[in-house]
Amino acid sequence: MDIVARTELAGSSGDLLVLPVFEDRVWGPGAEGVVAELGDWLDAYLDGLDFSGKTGQTAAVPGSDGFGQVLFVGLGKEADAEVLRKAAGTAGRAAMRYEKVVTTLSQVDIDGAAEAVAYAFVLGQYKYGKYLSKPKPSQTSELVLVGADAGDIEHGKSVAAGVAMARDLINEPAGGKKPEVLAEIATTMAGELGIDIKVYDEDEIEAERFGGLRAVSLGATNPPRMVVMNYRPDGATKTLTLVGKGIVFDSGGLSIKPAAGMETMKTDMSGAAVVYGTMRAVASLGIKVNLTGITPLTENMTGGAAQRPGDIFTARNGKTVEVLNTDAEGRLVLADGLALAVEDEPDLIVDIATLTGACMVALGKKVAGLLGTDDGAAQVEAAARRAGEQVWRLPMVEEYRSKLDSPIADLKNIGDRYGGAITAALFLAEFTDERQWVHLDIAGPARADGDDGYITKGGTGFAVSTLVALAEDMAAS
Ligand code: BES
Ligand code: ZN
Ligand code: ZN
Repeated sequence: MDIVARTELAGSSGDLLVLPVFEDRVWGPGAEGVVAELGDWLDAYLDGLDFSGKTGQTAAVPGSDGFGQVLFVGLGKEADAEVLRKAAGTAGRAAMRYEKVVTTLSQVDIDGAAEAVAYAFVLGQYKYGKYLSKPKPSQTSELVLVGADAGDIEHGKSVAAGVAMARDLINEPAGGKKPEVLAEIATTMAGELGIDIKVYDEDEIEAERFGGLRAVSLGATNPPRMVVMNYRPDGATKTLTLVGKGIVFDSGGLSIKPAAGMETMKTDMSGAAVVYGTMRAVASLGIKVNLTGITPLTENMTGGAAQRPGDIFTARNGKTVEVLNTDAEGRLVLADGLALAVEDEPDLIVDIATLTGACMVALGKKVAGLLGTDDGAAQVEAAARRAGEQVWRLPMVEEYRSKLDSPIADLKNIGDRYGGAITAALFLAEFTDERQWVHLDIAGPARADGDDGYITKGGTGFAVSTLVALAEDMAAS
């Protein structure tokens, strides 16, 4: 989609004009003139549709003066950037069949309006059509944002491209994204963007003592990979390291999941997908922060060589772990990822993982759990607020650490049935060497059950936008 700026609405034309409306039908930028021109029938018509300008509402009417159709979108009483994103995403979805779309949503008086609209409109039109035998419906080819700045458009587009990349990878069936394939995709991306990359194969994984990744990979026929990427722009002073859980399929291993629980487990590499999407956006925007991406990639399967409940492995940092439940595998591969991350002494480490069902039980499908050290948590919370992604901090309850005590190893990989999101984070903390570190448990928001604003059913790419905002904050500090 081409997204271009234009200074005013007057004199423009297209297949669809998208206009903002506030609650009680208070017309947004550009709407007044169009409404006057449409004629007296409009009010009664919108009454009939019960369209008052509430958030989420839309109403399409036949067009006027250069436009085939006009789409009114509701922004409610007091819009903020996230309300605008949701409206632009909804408009994007409704505008799918229109080739050239013009909108004044970008002129709504909110900081970063044009960026928010470009981002959300693109993502509202996201479709995963790769495996459809009939071609997917056409999408808008040109979006005109009235009153926008070209730089803001570029920013919104680049972050959206990172999110779309993550969605594509998450939505890909597990059979099409074996660790080797994902590593190949990461290598291609790194080449395009001037990012340094090292891919460890199964022998190197063993030689480098990535014991958790190796242990989880034992039951799989497709070999594991550890992918480490380094983006090092001139002039950067701060270093951010991202560690993404890359379980391309989670059967549970020998502690096997029930069939229903496995249906969406191709999603279990969302953390890795988010790391790739973030690296793409940060590098293409040239953000001046050193960014490292670490993604342990494997399947969690039940082959004859699979690790058994009760087996013990040694992680990269030398700690031994008794694996009592092979379905708690994410923390095992993250253990190595985090242990590797601390070796470079970055300013902040963030891991992103679809880690626990318990986190979903606690916070539902729209909110990610956030745990970690105080300063890091505050930084990520601020970035998430700007990005419009909901995160909620859970406590690192020291008293629960003893739940992970093992009589025969340094720790075991599960606690009891309570506080599962917290015990998982306490496990991860054993590998962070007390550095600034944040854990994002995205088990809920990584995947959506339906379309909603700029969110589309399936993989969401949740956290890419937050992490780009975090990278920008660190570049500016
Ligand atoms: N990948 C799952 C967590 C998950 C569940 C993500 C549902 C998204 C939706 C993870 O590997 C897992 O199975 N965790 C177990 C841990 C337990 C055995 C301690 C869980 O949450 O049940
Ligand atoms: Zn699992
Ligand atoms: Zn998992």
